[in-house]
Amino acid sequence: MLDEHTPRGPRRPLPPGAGVTSITRQAPAKINLYLEVLGRRPDGFHELITILQTLELCDEIGIALRPARNPDDVTLSLELPPGFGATIPTGADNLVVRAARALLHAAGLTGETGVELALTKCIPPGGGLGGGSSDAAAVLTGLNQLLGQPCDAAALSRLAAELGSDVPFFLTGGTALCRGRGEIVQALESPAPFPVTLLLPPFGVSTPSVYSALGAGRVAAGATQRTDPSLVHMRVPELEALFRNDLEPAARHVEARLTPLLDEPRVHLSGSGSTLFLFGVPSDAVRAECRRNSMRIVETQSKNR
Ligand code: C5P
Repeated sequence: MLDEHTPRGPRRPLPPGAGVTSITRQAPAKINLYLEVLGRRPDGFHELITILQTLELCDEIGIALRPARNPDDVTLSLELPPGFGATIPTGADNLVVRAARALLHAAGLTGETGVELALTKCIPPGGGLGGGSSDAAAVLTGLNQLLGQPCDAAALSRLAAELGSDVPFFLTGGTALCRGRGEIVQALESPAPFPVTLLLPPFGVSTPSVYSALGAGRVAAGATQRTDPSLVHMRVPELEALFRNDLEPAARHVEARLTPLLDEPRVHLSGSGSTLFLFGVPSDAVRAECRRNSMRIVETQSKNR
């Protein structure tokens, strides 16, 4: 599929060590099991303590090498499932294109090696599920592997942090406690896989808008500075009891259409939204509210490393 649609320039040798020239990676979605905002930083970001968990729901990304046809030669083709209901840019602004260019640059291969990316989306964008960040992390690790590991783990983490606050987490996935603006990642032992139901609104919510609504004085009081939660023996009731998301009041403020469902018991906001989720299966009341609001229900489960 990668080769069918892309015109090729004159062939030049691929870089040494590039025995395998294409690879396919899965890029999982995430939910936040816990999100505490400690305050706004001078650089405009917010200092967080958050626990992230990857899910079985995933995008898929094909990565193929070719001789570069021009400097920064990275192209992206997209496949969206029927009814996906969102458009995604394929140009230089797309995070996966930026990830591939950053990796080529770090490897000293800009202008020598080109990259074809073929992204099959399942994770809705603008939903607080980290789809774009996960895709970017999959490109960093996949391309690094194809090129014979020119970047070590620390270099990959630095590139990931430059691309976005959640990208470093997705380099390993599973369950992790993340600090700073989210880029300082400490792996946690995962709970046994547990069911998660995602409630997907037909609209996204802009992350910067939600964070700036916090800036208007909506940061929750009572920071707990959680240090080393042990989730390994937790089941749904314990995870439910651990749950916290300080962005929820701000998300309700930015997008009032979230309020009726967030008012239902056990319905939570993932990250800055707009995706809502619950542990386990939805009640009839939640199903009815979803139908009324044209929200899609996706049943998935947590995915560990
Ligand atoms: O890092 P990322 O590109 O995902 O962040 C998107 C936006 O979300 C930032 O520009 C900022 O407005 C907000 N943000 C924040 N504090 C964080 C993470 C994100 O204010 N810790």
